[in-house]
Amino acid sequence: MQPLLQIEDVYKQYGDKQVLDNIDLSVRKGEFCTVVGPSGCGKSTLLRLILGQEQPTSGKVEIAGAPALLPDLSRGIVYQRYSLFPNRTVLDNVMLGKTLTQGQWWNPWYRNKAHEEEAMAMLAQVRLADAARKYPHELSGGMQQRVAIAQALIMKPPILLMDEPFGALDPDTRADLQVHLLELWEKEQLTVFFVTHDMHEACLLGTRLLVLSQYYSDDRGDRHFAGRGGKIVADHPLPKVATSREVMHTDAFKELIEQVKQEGFDPEYLQHVKDFNLKHPDSFQTLLDAEYRR
Ligand SMILES: Nc1ncnc2c1ncn2[C@@H]1O[C@H](COP(=O)(O)OP(=O)(O)OP(=O)(O)O)[C@@H](O)[C@H]1O
Ligand SMILES: [Mg+2]
Repeated sequence: MQPLLQIEDVYKQYGDKQVLDNIDLSVRKGEFCTVVGPSGCGKSTLLRLILGQEQPTSGKVEIAGAPALLPDLSRGIVYQRYSLFPNRTVLDNVMLGKTLTQGQWWNPWYRNKAHEEEAMAMLAQVRLADAARKYPHELSGGMQQRVAIAQALIMKPPILLMDEPFGALDPDTRADLQVHLLELWEKEQLTVFFVTHDMHEACLLGTRLLVLSQYYSDDRGDRHFAGRGGKIVADHPLPKVATSREVMHTDAFKELIEQVKQEGFDPEYLQHVKDFNLKHPDSFQTLLDAEYRR
């Protein structure tokens, strides 16, 4: 089966700053990839490349076999801070993507019954049907974030990109939305990229955990260790669906967290690029033996 997302030999530079270094990633439909890594390792940059908002300096990013040249309906994104329009109701915010694709964004009186029904169904899914006529400022942060999720999901994007979507929420709301997202993911058969700073969240939610980090050793060329930019230093398959939070109390879960902290977050622990912990069966590296001195 063709992978839904294929990233090969991707490098990204801003000026002379190398942000991503040789990213290789193949993802099948239905995978829930969580992404962790130190601040500045290039997580948001990677999402922007997948979104097609930016292009790699070299290498290829393909969605279902076609280059990701521009953002389109195959990918939706949810940011940490809800991106709602304050002067539109919740319902109008959720319908916005539909209205835009009809070229009616300029028209405040534009109404489409089918879109409205779809948006109401989406709001019911995120348990916000009662708030349809409210404005964003009348909702709590968690509710606004649910609207943002509904806004992305109504377009049924095959790939849903989420950049720390629950980062600004209190722990209870966060736990609630985690469960909810897993339900939606199963129901809509989404493929998800979920960036988070919360290691527990990453290990709990995903079917696959990617560790992106600038801490590794790579003896290609003359730049020895530092300044090369983030790489996928570990790629862990996770148990299919964590239906219960009980798993968080198991030794295996705690060990995984310790391991990921070491692999990705310890500036002293520099695995050689050939020794990365790439256990996921779809993992691969385009680097050639000949590129190494050792
Ligand atoms: N448009 C840009 N121009 C120049 N440098 C940039 C640009 N975007 C990102 N960078 C740099 O690239 C690096 C990676 O940024 P990115 O936002 O991808 O990191 P991140 O892993 O998402 O970090 P955080 O966890 O803090 O969100 C940073 O050093 C940042 O300063
Ligand atoms: Mg970021």
